Amino acid sequence: MPEISRTAPESAPLKSGEVDMTTPSAARAYDYYLGGNSNFPVDREFGDQVLEHVPFVRDFARTNRAFLRRAVTWLCERGVDQFLDIGSGIPTVGNVHEIAQQADPRARTVYVDHEPVAAAHASTILDRTDPDRARTDVLRGDLRDPAGILASPVTTDLIDFSRPVGLLIVATMHFIGPGDNPAELMARYRDALPAGSHLVLSHLTLDDVPEQLREQGRDLERMYARTPNPGYFRDRAEVTALLDGYEIVAPGLVWAPEWHPEHEQPSDPATTATLAAVGRKP
Ligand SMILES: C[S@@+](CC[C@H](N)C(=O)[O-])C[C@H]1O[C@@H](n2cnc3c(N)ncnc32)[C@H](O)[C@@H]1O
Repeated sequence: MPEISRTAPESAPLKSGEVDMTTPSAARAYDYYLGGNSNFPVDREFGDQVLEHVPFVRDFARTNRAFLRRAVTWLCERGVDQFLDIGSGIPTVGNVHEIAQQADPRARTVYVDHEPVAAAHASTILDRTDPDRARTDVLRGDLRDPAGILASPVTTDLIDFSRPVGLLIVATMHFIGPGDNPAELMARYRDALPAGSHLVLSHLTLDDVPEQLREQGRDLERMYARTPNPGYFRDRAEVTALLDGYEIVAPGLVWAPEWHPEHEQPSDPATTATLAAVGRKP
């Protein structure tokens, strides 16, 4: 397991010197793919290289974000009113707390990300919309530190673990390598949730994608290997294993555009290289 800080996760404000503006970050590059402006020249340069060699990444980002929105809406319709969003990224259009509060103004959301800009930007937005952090808060924390995230007062002040929780780990597990024991991490979060909770998961894969995409995917892995956020594709069986202990709701583990689609789908949803599912803890 790579060495990570085991200090308690922190609330989000940036400290000076904390942001490395010389190395691209996954959170800021993803913001760039989505057309956001919370990124630095180094992220844009990296993002342009990625988009040139791996053009499916832009589709992946948009499709994945749309899946997240549909899944949160689906959970809200089933009465889930509290969300723990780990690897939440930089706030962009259609943030989880906005979707949830449209359904229920009392809905609660805790965002967690280890990237300083992602956490700080979320914090700045909340300073305007929820300065008392009565319904939404943000934590700088690392997914690989379940104990720290689950026990943080930022989490426990808003999330009541005696009632169903929506746990969102969307497009983030592919940054967790095999050496970090993903199965054990998923189990730690699952065991903290009461029955009736749901996991929303999406993950990049190269299983059953067109050959051209498989080559692009290998390029993508090579490019991210040079950043602080190396990425790992997983095959369908490995992604299914991350949902262990959950009942996967219909339509199952599918290409992200196929999960309760609202609009016309791409002619071949496999070109998003993104598997998505929602699981219910029995
Ligand atoms: C591709 S973005 C996904 C953002 C959002 N979940 C979505 O689907 O739109 C992945 C996010 O995971 C975060 N991330 C990667 N590894 C992480 C870790 N070990 N702990 C917490 N966040 C992590 C990155 O900083 C980035 O913001």
